[in-house]
Amino acid sequence: MVKLKTENLKLRFGKKEILKGITMEIPQNTVVAIIGPSGCGKSTFLRSLNRMNDFIKGVHIEGKVFLDGKNIYDRDVNVFELRKKVGMVFQKPNPFPKSIYENIAYGLRIHGIKDRSVIQQIVEKSLKDANLWEEVKDKLFESAFSLSGGQQQRLCTARALAIEPEVILMDEPASALDPIATNRLEHLIEKLKRNYTIVIVTHNIQQAARISDFTAFLYMGELIEFDRTEIMFTAPKNKKTEEYIMGKFS
Ligand SMILES: Nc1ncnc2c1ncn2[C@@H]1O[C@H](COP(=O)(O)OP(=O)(O)OP(=O)(O)O)[C@@H](O)[C@H]1O
Ligand SMILES: [Mg+2]
Repeated sequence: MVKLKTENLKLRFGKKEILKGITMEIPQNTVVAIIGPSGCGKSTFLRSLNRMNDFIKGVHIEGKVFLDGKNIYDRDVNVFELRKKVGMVFQKPNPFPKSIYENIAYGLRIHGIKDRSVIQQIVEKSLKDANLWEEVKDKLFESAFSLSGGQQQRLCTARALAIEPEVILMDEPASALDPIATNRLEHLIEKLKRNYTIVIVTHNIQQAARISDFTAFLYMGELIEFDRTEIMFTAPKNKKTEEYIMGKFS
């Protein structure tokens, strides 16, 4: 089943065209990796999937993005509800300046969950789902900043999971992590895809090959190729894709 679909998605900042008509189908419960050289529009594309670009001054968006068949850019869409369904984990871990516990509980309260024991249960479950529970269960009320970068990244993932999204967008979530933390994050993604649809931007070609089911190659705002990852990496149809994957340019 198709979870997300973009149709001729175009985006410009002022006169500068960033996305030049991207059509892509993202199947449910898969991991889709977005790769491509710096500045090609990966983050912009990712952010357009939950309307994070809406805030930016001078942005102009055309085309459609369907979530379960409904265009998220329709006027009647509640963006708050949309972001509940389509969660995001950013490149740099960005915990709130609060306790580990509160980092998760806060979002739950905003979404109307008030019952303390329910909040407690969800905090524990999301920390377990994000593979962080064992490391923090004895210090839940310490500052989130006392955690390592990798732990903070998993905390932010737990925070995103707590509100039970259907889709998780991740923008280079491993870029600030050491190899061990990266490995743990990759295992986490593997586990999460059973219940979620994940779109991940990565600069790391090997990582895309390891973790994704489908890979999208963006180049200068265009989707050059999209295919099953094993096909993209063994028999790309486009020469540009092949050159990028072979590391001929970055
Ligand atoms: N707020 C903005 N206003 C104007 N231009 C922007 C804005 N954000 C991004 N851009 C431009 O859009 C283009 C695509 O940026 P984007 O961040 O999507 O690229 P990227 O593929 O994620 O790059 P990287 O791999 O370096 O993160 C770049 O040329 C960038 O300068
Ligand atoms: Mg980026």
